[in-house]
Amino acid sequence: MNDFNYEVIPRYSAGEIKELTEVNSDMDIQAFKVEELEYIKVHNFLKNPIDLRNFISYFPSEDKTKSISDGTTKDSNSSSMAPGFQAPVPDTFFRNNLSIAFFNILKHYHMVKYEYRRIKWNYYTNCCYPGMPSYCSNYRPHTDPFSFALNLFLTENEESYTDFFRYKLKNNSYNYRGSRMSRYPTENEVDDAYNNSLLKDKKLGKWIRFKSDDHYERYHSVSADFNSLTIYKGDFYHSIGYDVDEYKSIRYSLVGAIA
Ligand SMILES: [Fe+2]
Repeated sequence: MNDFNYEVIPRYSAGEIKELTEVNSDMDIQAFKVEELEYIKVHNFLKNPIDLRNFISYFPSEDKTKSISDGTTKDSNSSSMAPGFQAPVPDTFFRNNLSIAFFNILKHYHMVKYEYRRIKWNYYTNCCYPGMPSYCSNYRPHTDPFSFALNLFLTENEESYTDFFRYKLKNNSYNYRGSRMSRYPTENEVDDAYNNSLLKDKKLGKWIRFKSDDHYERYHSVSADFNSLTIYKGDFYHSIGYDVDEYKSIRYSLVGAIA
């Protein structure tokens, strides 16, 4: 005999999980090109976005802010520099539903050349909240370690965005993608040195919505509307456009990443 209450573990049938991830047949899909950035925006994506939100909110998170506060960052299992907190969600829940929907959109716009079964998906939740601190100036532009980022926004927000940035090169031109920075060795070195210096200061700071500095400037923002999906290549410089002072609401999203 023991007193473990297994009833607290949420259980779903396959059909119920399918329902959580059902997409609207009349979703509005648009492809955009802004300077060098190509991205896809889908509005009115899921039939039951709140149900999916409730489902993924069950997953716990290793909260970096908490680790910094109690001095345990050295024990972290994640190298992510993202603000707020993230919770991994196994892709096994989405193999026969959401991942296929994402893949079909990418395929339609010729953004993937592989077959569906060859793609490795990673999913996690991302939560930004009022008063959220920054860490090593992580409000600055970054690139992702994966090829595609698919952000499904699951909360109503006041103005909230994915902001895109370009790196100012000496000859009055711009670099838009981290993967291309090695073409500009001198600037690359300066940028690396600056980023490394920021990493040394492992303290919590004030989160701001970054606009520009000596190196980067914002050139485009894609709104993070409720039940919308934004798809872009992870090597374009970007950041979360969320103002912790002005906004009073949580920004919660499910991120799908293709390795
Ligand atoms: Fe990112």
